[in-house]
Amino acid sequence: MTKLLPYMKKYKIYALLAPIFVILEVLGDIILPYLMSLIVDVGVKNRNTQYIIKTGIIMIIATMLSMLSGIISAHFSARAGHGFASEIRKETFKKIQGFSFANLNDFTVSSLVTRLTNDCNIIGQVTMMSLRLAIRAPFMMLFALVMASGINSSLAKVFFVSIPFTTIVIVLVILKARPLFLKLQTKVDEVNSVIRENLTAIKVVKSFNRQEHEEMKFKKRNDSLRNTALEALSLIISIMPVLNLVIFSTIIAILWFGGQQIVAGSMEGGELIAFITYVTQILIMLMLMSMFFMQFLRGIISVERILEVWGTKSQITEIKNPVKELNDGSISFNNVRFSYPGCHGETLKDINFDIKSGEILGIIGSTGSSKTTLVQLIPRLYDVTEGSVVVDGTDVRDYDIRLLRDQVAFVLQKNTLFSGTIRENMLWGDAEASDEKIIKVLKQAQAWEFVSKYDDTLDHVVEQGGSNFSGGQKQRLTIARALMKDPKIIILDDSTSAVDTATNAKIQRTFKDELADITTIIIAQRISSIQYADRIIVMHEGEIESFGDHETLLDISPIYREIYESQEKGLVG
Ligand SMILES: Nc1ncnc2c1ncn2[C@@H]1O[C@H](COP(=O)(O)OP(=O)(O)OP(=O)(O)O)[C@@H](O)[C@H]1O
Ligand SMILES: [Mg+2]
Repeated sequence: MTKLLPYMKKYKIYALLAPIFVILEVLGDIILPYLMSLIVDVGVKNRNTQYIIKTGIIMIIATMLSMLSGIISAHFSARAGHGFASEIRKETFKKIQGFSFANLNDFTVSSLVTRLTNDCNIIGQVTMMSLRLAIRAPFMMLFALVMASGINSSLAKVFFVSIPFTTIVIVLVILKARPLFLKLQTKVDEVNSVIRENLTAIKVVKSFNRQEHEEMKFKKRNDSLRNTALEALSLIISIMPVLNLVIFSTIIAILWFGGQQIVAGSMEGGELIAFITYVTQILIMLMLMSMFFMQFLRGIISVERILEVWGTKSQITEIKNPVKELNDGSISFNNVRFSYPGCHGETLKDINFDIKSGEILGIIGSTGSSKTTLVQLIPRLYDVTEGSVVVDGTDVRDYDIRLLRDQVAFVLQKNTLFSGTIRENMLWGDAEASDEKIIKVLKQAQAWEFVSKYDDTLDHVVEQGGSNFSGGQKQRLTIARALMKDPKIIILDDSTSAVDTATNAKIQRTFKDELADITTIIIAQRISSIQYADRIIVMHEGEIESFGDHETLLDISPIYREIYESQEKGLVG
């Protein structure tokens, strides 16, 4: 909790004012039964109309003031609660942005979404309730107890039985509810994860005719969420009859003992009415407190889930005085070994090679031969397990991480565009770029050829994930976006797989001639995409099988020769 409190700072004033108005509200509520008893015992008994009207007017004013305070406190507590939640949401979002790729494997995306939405909302609601209910109930109970004891201290002994009894019931239920609420939150995560997976892959689902299967999967999780919610709810509801029983037994006891006192002449009728009202107030507040505790419990679980995100340390950390200069795109891998965090076995074994700045390096190898894993180490999406990756003479771990990622542009194998316009997507790479630069870069990536055909060219809309473009168009746009950064090194991970051979050849030529000072790493399945690279690495099961140019590899690498021959014969394409 202490970790979260600083985020209330902006809303401190509301958080302080809300309870003050709550107390004013309580004072109004408390004075009413007392005034009522005066009307009965003094006004009615003495047939004093004047007195009744006067006290009645005071009651109306007290009610109005109490109502007004209630409205103000509700408003302030809502501001404080939701403001607090929004600050926490902002901070959590920021923390997630700082996650490394490895961290992202630790949390599922849907769980992060639930934490950002559901859990933050619950924290906001609980804060709101804490500022109102958690103040109102104890004060109300205390004042009502004082007033009731003031009216008749012997009758107030009834509380010694009813309050402890109710408290025990509530504590028992809360103890039982805790694991249920935890389970509830996990179930929400699970439903969200099915929804997310299904919606992002809805086209695949449809093309495989898997709708029914998906519906079943969803139904199962949804039912399970419903059952857990019902279980939690029935537990909460089970308190109600018990509390009602307590309330009515207490009232009967008071009527019984109070009635005897009235008969004996030691108590007035109006006093008894007021007494019963106070008792009801106390027990209702106890009931509300139990509701609050339930919600508070959910709040604690949500806080824990948020703190879990906050407490996750990014595996990729920066050194104290990072190098802030990167002038050329030379790369060397020295005895690099790598295993994915939490996975057994090495994904990369003893990788050694050097390339000069401006060279074009091709990487080829069967799927799963660790091509992507290898290049991910250059912009530090992961850190090496052993050995070092050096760019421009400096270990990548010693660079300022923003600088490194600006200078090493990585077109991911499964890249995506963001909804907006083409221009907006291009500005990701360089926020200040002119249209001329964007067009120049689009031309280099062979994307201008289709972008220029749209009436609205750069303002053409990009739908979510770039779904309104063909695979090859999307790839060319993502290459252009990477080029916008004016990087020293560009990595194309299978980024032209969907582009036709002629266009692909044009892109290769641009990298060779126009962009000759950029170090280019091209991962490809087709030999034709890397044939003209200065040098080519052949990967095999996490190791470099051979390293050399096209002609050399045809001589020395059986794997390369096999790929070449199969593609020449048109078997693969
Ligand atoms: N995030 C990850 N966590 C654990 N293991 C991973 C992860 N990503 C990849 N791997 C494993 O590492 C190995 C190499 O994968 P990698 O993606 O580097 O292959 P690749 O050569 O790029 O294949 P492709 O040509 O299909 O893209 C595979 O066995 C894969 O299962
Ligand atoms: Mg790959």
